[in-house]
Amino acid sequence: MNTKNKRIGILTAGGDCPGLNAAIRGVGKTAIVKYNMEVIGFSSGFLGLINKDYFKLEEKMLSGILTLGGTILGTSREKPFKKTGHLSINKPKLIKEHYHQLGLDCLVCIGGNGTQKTAAGLVEEGLNIIGLPKTIDNDVWGTDETFGFDSALWIATDAIDRLHSTANSHKRIMVIEVMGHNAGWLTLYAGMAGGGDVILIPELDYDMERVNKYLLNRAKKKKPYSIVVIAEGINKHKRDSAASYISSQIEKGTGIETRKTILGYIQRGGSPSPYDRLLATSFGSHAVELIAKGEYGKMVIKKGDHISDIPLSEVGSKVRLVPKDHPLIQRALGLDICMGIK
Ligand code: F6P
Repeated sequence: MNTKNKRIGILTAGGDCPGLNAAIRGVGKTAIVKYNMEVIGFSSGFLGLINKDYFKLEEKMLSGILTLGGTILGTSREKPFKKTGHLSINKPKLIKEHYHQLGLDCLVCIGGNGTQKTAAGLVEEGLNIIGLPKTIDNDVWGTDETFGFDSALWIATDAIDRLHSTANSHKRIMVIEVMGHNAGWLTLYAGMAGGGDVILIPELDYDMERVNKYLLNRAKKKKPYSIVVIAEGINKHKRDSAASYISSQIEKGTGIETRKTILGYIQRGGSPSPYDRLLATSFGSHAVELIAKGEYGKMVIKKGDHISDIPLSEVGSKVRLVPKDHPLIQRALGLDICMGIK
């Protein structure tokens, strides 16, 4: 197999998350050290390809980045297939042109759902692409896990742990809003791990009266405080944050003093967890094994204990939500944790 002259590009797109640098390192080191490939890093996601903003990634630049948060390449939410006001600029065409001008054999796109959709679009345009799924939301279709999720779970759980003691001191209800876009994975997992009394996720239609009755009942049973963990995505009203809406509804409905905390971008920052370092590294090295074999148009996935891959065309615009019958939901209900449903 002659992979000596392969030249690959790599970019990180969409919201950042812990583990991006571990993935860049996994791709870069395997490509350079094992296969003697040349690696080009594009700045700020697809913008880097559109603007030809890139640099050669030397092996030594990949040392010391495993534990770093963020992405050394930078990222953006640029969606090249989205029609914008500037109709004269055909971004997919520019990307194709620059890909060929740079003599790339493959482009590795590290990102969430939006990025994988763009990646699939570029496959249709005839480019060799490999997708790597990352996001704290864990909602990329086709894979059991995305890197970033485990680190965010640690951060959110630690935050909830800390809110227990202050809630107890003041005998308050604490509402904690967790990220996740339209998916409830992070909220469900952090809510369970952090001992939430109420957990509300977008996949289950909650009933506010039921939530308030449950909280009043806890107060009646002399439980001094309550922890309410909610997903940002339950905010159907969009007027305010989910945390503001739910905390005001609780205070109105129960008369118990309530405070809100929005965890926000803290969940996306800092060093990746050991688990995410391993997952991102494995995803990165699997990507290069595919490239070495000339197998393109794939997204790397984890299914059970195995790292494998699926065609990017299967991923499309699908999103992986928490199934209503997820075992953790059943466990929560069995523990009398309120999910806002019957
Ligand atoms: O996709 C990850 C995520 O963190 C979501 O949970 C959140 O809704 C979104 O990004 C917000 O990101 P930004 O403000 O960077 O677009």
